[in-house]
Amino acid sequence: MDSKINKLNERIALAHLGGGQKRIDKQHAKKKLTARERIAYLLDEGSFEETGLLVTHRTTDFNMEKEVYYGDGVVTGYGTIRDRLVYVYAQDFTVFGGSLSETHAEKICKIMDMALKVGAPIIGLNDSGGARIQEGVRSLGGYADIFYRNVQASGMVPQISAIMGPCAGGAVYSPAMTDFTIMVEQTSYMFVTGPNVVKTVTNEEVSSEALGGAHTHASKSGVAHKTAANDVECLEAIKTLLGYLPQNNRETTKLLDTTFNDEVRDVLTNSIPDNPNKPYDMHSVISGIIDVDSFYEIHKDYAENIIVGFARLGGRSIGIIANQPMVLAGVLDVNSSKKAARFTRFCDCFNIPLLVLVDVPGFLPGTDQEWQGIIVHGAKLLYALSEATVPRVTVITRKAYGGAYDVMNSKHIGADMNFAWPTAEIAVMGAKGASEIIFKKDIAEAKDPAKKLVEKETEYAEKFANPYRAASRGFIDEIILPKDTRRKLIKAFAMLENKEVNRPKRKHGNIPL
Ligand code: HXC
Repeated sequence: MDSKINKLNERIALAHLGGGQKRIDKQHAKKKLTARERIAYLLDEGSFEETGLLVTHRTTDFNMEKEVYYGDGVVTGYGTIRDRLVYVYAQDFTVFGGSLSETHAEKICKIMDMALKVGAPIIGLNDSGGARIQEGVRSLGGYADIFYRNVQASGMVPQISAIMGPCAGGAVYSPAMTDFTIMVEQTSYMFVTGPNVVKTVTNEEVSSEALGGAHTHASKSGVAHKTAANDVECLEAIKTLLGYLPQNNRETTKLLDTTFNDEVRDVLTNSIPDNPNKPYDMHSVISGIIDVDSFYEIHKDYAENIIVGFARLGGRSIGIIANQPMVLAGVLDVNSSKKAARFTRFCDCFNIPLLVLVDVPGFLPGTDQEWQGIIVHGAKLLYALSEATVPRVTVITRKAYGGAYDVMNSKHIGADMNFAWPTAEIAVMGAKGASEIIFKKDIAEAKDPAKKLVEKETEYAEKFANPYRAASRGFIDEIILPKDTRRKLIKAFAMLENKEVNRPKRKHGNIPL
């Protein structure tokens, strides 16, 4: 018996060494944790149970039978984060650069299948040189097996990807199909083809960092939802994110116990500047409404003219979508529409109620936007909100102009409760533009056209730059004082808790992609 136990222990020890101490040291020298260290940090202490520790690859080409490592470059299993079950895989860069072989893929698929059966989140810690080059098409098949499962799991269990090293080729497409991608600054890259291929094909000289580093994907492409300064911060970000999400699409996020003795928030009273063209930071409005320090922003550096993220409101997990007057006056454009649409769909999949804060002057005009297809991209947000069945509440803080009024969770597209502050301006367009069109003749014929324009502008603004017309039609349920917003919203979301919407059966809608 002793010798049998020793044999097992030897194998376990070898497996735990991955590609060997030298390569582990190299990983540490790059300020990266190893796959096992990452899992140990991510999960509750002692909770990890590993699957497939002794799996090995089956390749014999290129003398690969001589290079066999237990685990085959990926650590897989399950455990808990703050007492909640999760399934996890961590690619081990010390074994063939974390590259994906047929067996490596099988291990990942096994835990994905289990996560789907049980209904628990899947977390992937990616650090991989892509397809295992020695395996050819078997590796490509392995990738496709994972992609297929990403899609089957989509909207069923939350899927979170951390990018913690180079991720090239196939290694980027699975994260792209998951719900959230968090990249570590300076040590992680994502690209379909690296700088060398770029140089050959397009003659472009670009560094890995510029092509596909964390900053690039968090601000330019929107591929990354968040960045982290290092591995530990990245793993912390995953733990925090999970706290806003339910285990699966059949559950809701647990209500946290909180006391609400601060329901009146006077800080909100002076949020809106007297001058309607002066910007203000919507983040202050958000923090004036939600539970203290509970905002978890998604896509912070991408399409900053709209803010999206999770928060707690009276202990309840909610998703927030808010125009940001500080950037491009909070206008809707291609990227902000896509950003908010994707976030809406995530919240709707996982029963997270939506709060929409509106201060929007309209859609961004111009050839750049039109040629990029603002029509179809703006329609994404309109579509996503229209189809969302979770509780949906709107607060118009200031401008709600034109088509953007309709899009930003108006009553007409299915919002449940629509509030406006007394500072709200709800109209087809701003007073100046409107007056120039409808009073064109009066202005042209006036002795002093400039004076006439101002006169007409004032007349129009008095009539329409307020929430009262909309309230008189019932498009706004209540005009509320800013300081009461938190209390009103807590009550509205509690009232909507058991909202149920039954739609006729269909395969799926056809969102304009
Ligand atoms: C097998 C690989 C590998 C791979 C790296 N290694 N990538 N082995 N298949 N794809 C091995 C190296 O041989 C080396 O082994 C170890 O991993 C570490 O690699 P280094 O190059 O020494 O590390 P580093 O300098 O940090 O560079 C990392 C890297 C680079 C940027 C990832 O290795 C690289 O460019 N790899 C190839 C990336 C790539 O083109 N992959 C295929 C993409 S095509 P030793 O023994 O020295 O430790 C693809 C198609 C899928 O994925 C499409 C599906 C849709």
